[in-house]
Amino acid sequence: MIELLRQAGITEGQAVLDIGFGSVEELLAIGALVGKQGSVIGLEKNPEPVRQALASVKEVPTKISILEGLAEQIPLSHESVDLVLCKGVLHEIRDLPKAVSGMVRVLKPHGTLALIDFQPIPKAQFLFYKIIATISQRKICEDRHPGFSREEITELLNPYQMEYRALGEMGRLGWLEVPLFLARATKALADSGLR
Ligand SMILES: C[S@@+](CC[C@H](N)C(=O)[O-])C[C@H]1O[C@@H](n2cnc3c(N)ncnc32)[C@H](O)[C@@H]1O
Repeated sequence: MIELLRQAGITEGQAVLDIGFGSVEELLAIGALVGKQGSVIGLEKNPEPVRQALASVKEVPTKISILEGLAEQIPLSHESVDLVLCKGVLHEIRDLPKAVSGMVRVLKPHGTLALIDFQPIPKAQFLFYKIIATISQRKICEDRHPGFSREEITELLNPYQMEYRALGEMGRLGWLEVPLFLARATKALADSGLR
């Protein structure tokens, strides 16, 4: 996971917002990369991971804050973080343009938005995936989108300088081994981008 987070652009000293962190391990891995001078804010809509994370971060040296809330309503002030990470969450978000607009709002000028999610999955495979997820009563994750094409991501990040990479072997997720993409966009100026 550390290598993927590095590729997302996370480096020492940054203030990182991780949207939909899911488990405390992800926050700890980010904490290890940003070090003592950096900070991590984990935002998660599901109360259970929030409760678990709050119980386990107390002893960690890096500044880690845990917030319960939605990607569509980020409870942070304008231009307050260096990097927003949204890893494996995009396909669950209900209002994507609103969420992306909020992610950009909280980024400092020249900050980085890093999106990691599934490349398109064939419809039949997506249905199969959803059925198995329902049967196994996977409570936290709700897959609503059968993966994103490069064009869809480009449209979503239209106002930005964007770098898109389809990730290879190391970028596969879940028991179906769905290939991932990484899209990094830079917020160029204080008054640019989506609002
Ligand atoms: C598939 S898990 C990914 C967890 C982790 N980021 C990873 O890569 O392993 C998706 C997570 O996003 C959270 N989530 C889904 N929609 C969200 C939203 N609109 N706002 C905040 N969190 C959300 C879910 O509760 C879940 O914990």
